[in-house]
Amino acid sequence: MAPTFLSLSLSHLSLWASGMILIIGFLKIFSLLLRRHKLAKAMDNFPGPPTHWLFGHALEIQQKESLDKVVSWAHQFPYAHPLWMGPFLGFLNIYEPDYAKAVYSRGDPKAADVYDFFLQWIGKGLLVLDGAKWFQHRKLLTPGFHYDVLKPYVAVFVNSANVMLDKWEKKACENKSFDIFCDVGHMALDTLMKCTFGKGDSGLSHRDSSYYQTVSDLTLLMQQRIDSFQYHNDFIYWFTPHGRRFLRACQAAHDYTDHVIQKRKAALQDKEEQEKTQNRRHLDFLDILLGAKDESATKLSDADLRAEVDTFMFEGHDTTTSGISWFLYCMALYPEHQQRCREEAQEILGDRDSFQWDDLGKMTYLTMCIKESFRLYPPVPQVYRQLSKPVNFVDGRSLPAGSLISLHIYALHRNSAAWPDPEVFDPLRFSPENATGRHPFAFLPFSGGPRNCIGQQFAMNEMKVVTALCLLRFEFSPDPSRVPIKMPQLVLRSKNGIHLHLKPLSSGSQKPLGRE
Ligand code: HEM
Ligand SMILES: *[C@@H]1O[C@H](CO)[C@@H](O)[C@H](O)[C@H]1NC(C)=O
Ligand SMILES: *[C@@H]1O[C@H](CO)[C@@H](O)[C@H](O)[C@H]1NC(C)=O
Repeated sequence: MAPTFLSLSLSHLSLWASGMILIIGFLKIFSLLLRRHKLAKAMDNFPGPPTHWLFGHALEIQQKESLDKVVSWAHQFPYAHPLWMGPFLGFLNIYEPDYAKAVYSRGDPKAADVYDFFLQWIGKGLLVLDGAKWFQHRKLLTPGFHYDVLKPYVAVFVNSANVMLDKWEKKACENKSFDIFCDVGHMALDTLMKCTFGKGDSGLSHRDSSYYQTVSDLTLLMQQRIDSFQYHNDFIYWFTPHGRRFLRACQAAHDYTDHVIQKRKAALQDKEEQEKTQNRRHLDFLDILLGAKDESATKLSDADLRAEVDTFMFEGHDTTTSGISWFLYCMALYPEHQQRCREEAQEILGDRDSFQWDDLGKMTYLTMCIKESFRLYPPVPQVYRQLSKPVNFVDGRSLPAGSLISLHIYALHRNSAAWPDPEVFDPLRFSPENATGRHPFAFLPFSGGPRNCIGQQFAMNEMKVVTALCLLRFEFSPDPSRVPIKMPQLVLRSKNGIHLHLKPLSSGSQKPLGRE
């Protein structure tokens, strides 16, 4: 009797459960369809390229040279067009200065559909926060980028760059081109660890090096996830081998950051250590974060601290890596500009052997070339928002609250109305005389408005010091058999790496440059 009763109720239960799953499934599909309808209706006034019912434009976007595809769409559809990543996720893709201004001069929140991928690793740091908490954090962190803090980092950049250049000295002898991206990446992560944690003055420990490896892994896994449609759903992803590896790497990164924070906190309570900190050559970001207080003396919680440190590590290394690598590629393509930058650097250096803070302001031609390479190869090619209130555009069209926006920085920088002959590398566009007439939202490598890049001064300083040292040690030329294939993956990369020929410069008076 009992077993029949049990099996009866079990079969009832399973029937009931499958019914529930079906209903939930229907509700989910219904809400997705509703969302698709709403997003599509809001973009009724914006014609665009043909849309596949399931993939949207994802197939075109995943193809080689998708960035130039978007540029060709931008020519066809002035100002903006809808861009569908699959059936339910539709953005208005914009690439015109006035359109960019209408959205990015306001502080609308980031589009959760994109930025939620970052949460597991970098948590709710400055990049993904919004509203009052973002404002509070931004205010607390801004002093960390004051020039008094940035000044001593010049020596850090010089040291890390020299380690890379010594490595290149050996590789360059082999009479063949090699991929510079990877080495630049190591160098950028190295500087960032030194500036964030104050590590490295006494050498990296085993624990530090494995953190370093973890950060590279995480970046790769995250790129792979964004590229793979089937990995977008959290539940599906966490059950795949890649997803589990990602979770383990997140845990390892968090353990490391927590450990460094706790150690520093304990040290701060120790009087002797406190004096040591004051005598140390430079404050690092962690010192600033730990000391940050707002008017009501509220400090950042441990979770907030970790999120901000992880955000810096994520935002600060791949971006500069991309920037430096593509800049050197531009120099290889345009030897006359390369030579002019080199001569400027030689003149500034004179007979000294290391760059200092005051030199950075004198690198005017190099700075123009860096900006021109940012224009053609923006390290962050696309950023996303979700409108918190309606927006009206210059041509009378508008979008309601809730709409998703993709600012296509790459296409904006090749908008021929804003940039005559956009494909031509011409640093003079950024001469002081020419800069005054430019639309303030025509050039946005660091985004614009209140949510712009907080690290841009840091990044520019690193770019200048590192690239100037590169040009002093080597002559760069392209490898015509391995032309880079541009690929947007969070940052602008090359599918086949950036292969360059390097020729060591051995002028008679050659000495190791930039040594301390
Ligand atoms: C060439 C180098 C860099 C480029 C091109 C770059 C570009 C950008 C862009 C486009 C944004 C806006 C992102 C968005 O709206 O989703 C951004 C935000 C941000 N960047 Fe950078 N970045 C660079 C270097 C750095 C460095 C070195 C750091 C830190 C040390 C940093 C920290 C941040 C942070 C914290 C944010 C979020 C700011 C906020 O929302 O308030 N960046 N960056
Ligand atoms: C370097 O390679 C080029 C062509 O690949 C060749 O002509 C040249 O002889 C090589 N030089 C040396 C030193 O091996
Ligand atoms: C301004 O830009 C144009 C086009 O790039 C260039 O020909 C001209 O020389 C620039 N002017 C100055 C003063 O650099």
